[in-house]
Amino acid sequence: MTEQCTSTLADAGVLAEIRAGMDRPQKELPPKFFYDERGSELFEAITRLPEYYLTRAEAALLALRMPEWMAALGPAALVELGAGSAVKTRLVLDAMDGAEVYVPVDVSADFLDATARRVRGTYPGLEVRPVAADFTAPFPLPPLPHPVLHALLGSTIGNFAPDEAIALLHATRHRMGRGDRFLMGVDLRKEPARIEAAYNDAAGVTAEFNRNMLRVVNALAGADFDADAYEHRAFYDRAAHRIEMHLVPARAQTVTVPGAGRWTVAAGESIRTEISCKHDRASVDAMFAAAGLRVERWAADEEGLFAIVLGTPA
Ligand code: AVJ
Repeated sequence: MTEQCTSTLADAGVLAEIRAGMDRPQKELPPKFFYDERGSELFEAITRLPEYYLTRAEAALLALRMPEWMAALGPAALVELGAGSAVKTRLVLDAMDGAEVYVPVDVSADFLDATARRVRGTYPGLEVRPVAADFTAPFPLPPLPHPVLHALLGSTIGNFAPDEAIALLHATRHRMGRGDRFLMGVDLRKEPARIEAAYNDAAGVTAEFNRNMLRVVNALAGADFDADAYEHRAFYDRAAHRIEMHLVPARAQTVTVPGAGRWTVAAGESIRTEISCKHDRASVDAMFAAAGLRVERWAADEEGLFAIVLGTPA
């Protein structure tokens, strides 16, 4: 198998990204650094937590709507950005009758290979062509039969601030032909307490997931973060409609990232590791319009927790 491997985590650009983030007044590291193999496993554990309603709500919507939505489209290929373990992908693939090719795109190469093997086992007739890439940068796709369904599930879009989200949607729109479609899962705006609970689980899995990012950065860049010296913090920003995750040192910490720099994270300071933006129909309409897409179908659960959206080129 020839793997078209582009910008994975091991790139030189990683150092520049770390430097740019750590040089900000609010220090930050990009959420893609969560996902080494351990981080991907921890995320899978998060999806099973009682407080983390997102995955269950999305799975129920996909199970309910995909048969009808996919029957109308008849996609020949599925490109999934941020495929992870591809658990929810089954709900899409099962509804795609004539699916010939599945392209999972993920930044965690090890996890991706395991995913590809598993999907091949379940769908013997399906050509599975994994692409190990950071989908926030341009990456090449193999030639695909149309129509293609491009998918960005699991509220992954939430990790992007509005301008970045539009840029990502726009790049996806650019890869789409007339008959292609874009499927997205979004976490909806709701009671902040409900959202905060989902990111502050009682078992502490999210805290471990958050700290693991520092271990990933150590492995990637030879940094010397003391992950255990940081506490997990997650809070909802009502004005920005987003939850933020931070790592807060109990006392001042100094970190050296060879070739990038040396920083002190003072007591009372933090490193922001993630934003998770929450949406509604109007915010999705606006993002889609700015990216050259239009909402063709929208489905939310009865509680208004989560929505899946099918977009078409405008
Ligand atoms: C994978 C980005 C959708 O924002 O809910 C879960 C990641 N972070 N718990 C999210 C996450 C903390 C997740 N996304």
